[in-house]
Amino acid sequence: MNPFILLTGGAGYIGSHTYLALKRAGYQPIIFDNYCNADADTPAKLAKLSNAPVLEVQGDVRSKSDLQKVFINYDISAVIHFAAFKAVGSSVINPLNYIENNNIGLINILRSMQDVDCRAIVFSSSAAVYADPKSLPVREDAALSFNNPYGYTKLAGEEILKQVVDANEGWAASVLRYFNVAGVHSSGLLRQTPKKSPQPAENLMSRLLEVAHEKREYIEVFGNDWDTCDGTGVRDYIHVEDVANGHVKSLDKLMQGYQSHTLNLGTGRGYSVLELIDTFQSTCGWNIPYRIVGRRQGDIGSCYADVRLAKKLLGFEAKFDLNEMCSSDWAVGS
Ligand code: WQD
Repeated sequence: MNPFILLTGGAGYIGSHTYLALKRAGYQPIIFDNYCNADADTPAKLAKLSNAPVLEVQGDVRSKSDLQKVFINYDISAVIHFAAFKAVGSSVINPLNYIENNNIGLINILRSMQDVDCRAIVFSSSAAVYADPKSLPVREDAALSFNNPYGYTKLAGEEILKQVVDANEGWAASVLRYFNVAGVHSSGLLRQTPKKSPQPAENLMSRLLEVAHEKREYIEVFGNDWDTCDGTGVRDYIHVEDVANGHVKSLDKLMQGYQSHTLNLGTGRGYSVLELIDTFQSTCGWNIPYRIVGRRQGDIGSCYADVRLAKKLLGFEAKFDLNEMCSSDWAVGS
């Protein structure tokens, strides 16, 4: 029997792409989602794309009883924990909502795992735990900090995980620090943001899509006075299909030898805002109007990943380039 893997937030952007990668790898993923930031028709799309029925449980990580039910009904071999709020701007306005959902939710999952002796977890972390890295590319052993409540919840999540794994004999955890995830599945059926997103798009790629689909007039470029190639912010954009494949390789590693690891999931290459706008224009053939405005509060100039450890430990390296991220994104409505 293929091992059951619980995907909390599995109907979301990265979760749904990882669902497909896990199915291809012979796992039996189970989607656990409250659909606060996911389309209700995602499981049906995944059933079509995987040509197999989808195991799906509607539930909320803030509800212990919801989680207990799924662990009672299925012999879960490992958890991949995607379910979290991720909008930096919203986290500044509602820090307690973020701490309750992202950290209390994690604690509930870890307690449910303890109750049934499920000993392996993959945790969605973020480059946000590097805050403003002093040297680039940023390595996993760089100093950790946070610039906003969202980043705090990711750093706190990593620390909680470390304490619990150390206290539980035989447990193993994989911490995957995502850089800037972009792109969508080649079918065009899956989306970066749900049709009814609970908050306005904040990320650059989502806003580019809105301009391209005439849902936004122009891009505000947050500052052109950074110490970068053209003065605009530099980030490491990685295709969501690469991120999904990185999860499968990390889970394989956990299931083989229960060896904990913390890894960057990036490409090791940084692109500026203007380079991304230029690539998006040349790929999708649309003119993307923009205006240079002041810096965004809490923003940083450059961040891109040192990717050697993921290559060494998992044999992982990103395969999709920026053009493929832009072209796959363009295929889907904003
Ligand atoms: C990218 C670049 C902006 C919007 C955040 C989270 C991170 C991760 C990804 C979850 C920056 C510039 C943006 C705009 C702009 N999320 N920009 N105009 O801030 O790198 O990271 O999202 O894991 O944890 O912190 O992503 O897409 O918001 O910004 O000029 O309208 O684009 O200044 O240089 P960011 P982003």
